[in-house]
Amino acid sequence: MLQGRRVLLIISGGIAAYKSLELIRRLRDRGAAVRCVMTAAAAQFVTPLSVAALSEDKVYTDLFSLTDESEMGHIRLSREADLVVVAPASADLMGRMAAGMADDLAATVLLASDKPVLIAPAMNAMMWAHPATQANVATLAARGVRQVGPNAGDLACGEIGSGRMAEPLEIVAAIEQSLAPDRRLAGKRALVTSGPTREAIDPVRYLSNHSSGKQGHAIAAALAALGADTILVSGPTQEATPPGVALVAIESAAEMLVAAEAHLPVDVAVMAAAVADWRVETVADQKLKKNGKGPPLLRLAENPDILATLAARRNDRPRLVVGFAAETENVVANAQAKRRRKGCDWILANDVSAGTGTFGGDSNTIHLVDAHGVEDWPAMTKQAVAARLADRIAAALHGAE
Ligand code: CTP
Repeated sequence: MLQGRRVLLIISGGIAAYKSLELIRRLRDRGAAVRCVMTAAAAQFVTPLSVAALSEDKVYTDLFSLTDESEMGHIRLSREADLVVVAPASADLMGRMAAGMADDLAATVLLASDKPVLIAPAMNAMMWAHPATQANVATLAARGVRQVGPNAGDLACGEIGSGRMAEPLEIVAAIEQSLAPDRRLAGKRALVTSGPTREAIDPVRYLSNHSSGKQGHAIAAALAALGADTILVSGPTQEATPPGVALVAIESAAEMLVAAEAHLPVDVAVMAAAVADWRVETVADQKLKKNGKGPPLLRLAENPDILATLAARRNDRPRLVVGFAAETENVVANAQAKRRRKGCDWILANDVSAGTGTFGGDSNTIHLVDAHGVEDWPAMTKQAVAARLADRIAAALHGAE
């Protein structure tokens, strides 16, 4: 049932657009509210009047219609939906989505949307197989866009091959699946470390680093969103505690280790904190004063490695231990060595050299290193990295059962 769910259906140009009329009926039968956006090409195949009649709502076609903009801005169009469905998704619209264009209402709505997107591609088999289309499909998939079809069979152009839009009931099933909350980690426990640590020099001074905590917090949010009971052990950051996550605020590496071990056993541990490698061996009880004898000498001691310590636990080792490797050169080779040295299962390696903008920035380019090899992820936002990692963790924990 889709009672009360709101679908924004974007119809692009293609002969398969006639099936979108059937799709609207099926969605309405199940209680969904369907609001439609049509491209100019779509209106060559089905009339806005039919779409309006079946959806029992106004149809949106024009980016620059003043009435539409005052009644319902393009931002609100997607914000007021639970899911954006593009059916049929033409090669042209998919290309514009992949390129981030905003040259008509459909593309603008898609670019301005923060909602899950499902595409049902439909086109001639040669167009579907073309490397340009396949590259666009891969780009969209990497951004989390879901896809249903295309199916193989007779095509409207008279050829046979892959490119037929999925049938309306298949699209309905994919919509129901997309809207069902994904709780694959329900009943699982997750531990995430995040942020920097602060190593006291004296009561007012410390050694630390520029970690923002954005990636670690996003991972905790993504694991909690999948239903995991999530504990976030974090050093000081500006990030809000994500909903459903239990925060344990710490300062030093030693405190981070104690807090992490106190929350075992867990099914998965993701160590995203930028732990200071060294602490000051003897913290001064009182504020260090300038005493005329020159600057004090700080003797450093090595901090415990939290990732390696958890990975080496005997009776309560997390089933999956994931670490990060912040590298500035030989990124993958160094990460492979680090994975073996620290005894963890996966390393997410990222290049933090100057100019990449990773440290403190909003995006990340990840190489996932495990015992079998390396998986290169495209540049993604830290939220998208977190969602993809949570998805991989859910698959791994279920596969291991
Ligand atoms: N880590 C940890 N405890 C430490 C140091 C690091 O848990 N004391 C974890 C980090 O959270 C990260 C991983 O280890 O998941 C890798 O950290 P990184 O700084 O890249 O590696 P280092 O161990 O510092 O190695 P090096 O600086 O020599 O590359």
